[in-house]
Amino acid sequence: MDKREKLYEGKAKIVYATDDPGLVIQYFKDDATAFNAQKRGTIVGKGVVNNLMSAAMFQLLGRRRVPTHLVRPLSDREMLCRRLDIIKIETVVRNVVAGSLAQRTGLPEGTSAGRRAVLELYYKSDPLGDPMINDDHVRMMGLATPRELAWVKRTALKVNAVLAPHLSRHGLLLVDFKLEFGRHRGRLWLGDEVSPDTCRLWDARTRERLDKDRFRRDLGGVEEAYQEVFRRVVPKALQALAGPAQA
Ligand code: C5P
Repeated sequence: MDKREKLYEGKAKIVYATDDPGLVIQYFKDDATAFNAQKRGTIVGKGVVNNLMSAAMFQLLGRRRVPTHLVRPLSDREMLCRRLDIIKIETVVRNVVAGSLAQRTGLPEGTSAGRRAVLELYYKSDPLGDPMINDDHVRMMGLATPRELAWVKRTALKVNAVLAPHLSRHGLLLVDFKLEFGRHRGRLWLGDEVSPDTCRLWDARTRERLDKDRFRRDLGGVEEAYQEVFRRVVPKALQALAGPAQA
């Protein structure tokens, strides 16, 4: 698979073209941003953790019949993916109150969100700061068809039903997470990443935060938290791609 020109560079990833127009290479950087890029920094080794955790979660979801853009992991920081036309909606699923939901509702962080997960939609727009939207806004702006939106919501809840128990078996509480979906060859696929950048993951016993909140809130131990998640959730076969320094 030949790596060709850079198609897009985002805050945490670079997407490269390949010799196949239907496939791209997603490269994971160590750069970290928060609060709509007002806070910037580096988390050493983050790209490796996020790439290999995403690969592991996508492989698991694929086995459970959730279509994902992953074709195969290529190296410590790269995965080969189907090229998606990304839907400009960020879908957030919440099992426990944290972050912006705590701010919006006044409920303390750590409160259960109930037996049924809470699902939220945000408009993916850096200039607007990703505002929360509802189904009517999606329809009004033509971001997705009603059928596509129904599939996105159903699939996001299925991802939660697969990942929450899986992560729990590794001692992690899946507090909340953000997903992105896109179109490819006439159907929808889960894209982007599933990592400590896009999920809140708390130690199930101590409730210690093992995710990007350590960076957002200057809690310290950021790299250590990412490495702990790596050790717990990335299978040995994928850990081998990281080389001896990480494994
Ligand atoms: O900040 P908020 O509480 O709304 O975030 C909910 C979840 O979505 C968190 O897991 C956070 O890491 C993720 N998120 C994200 N990218 C954004 C906004 C939120 O990955 N732009």
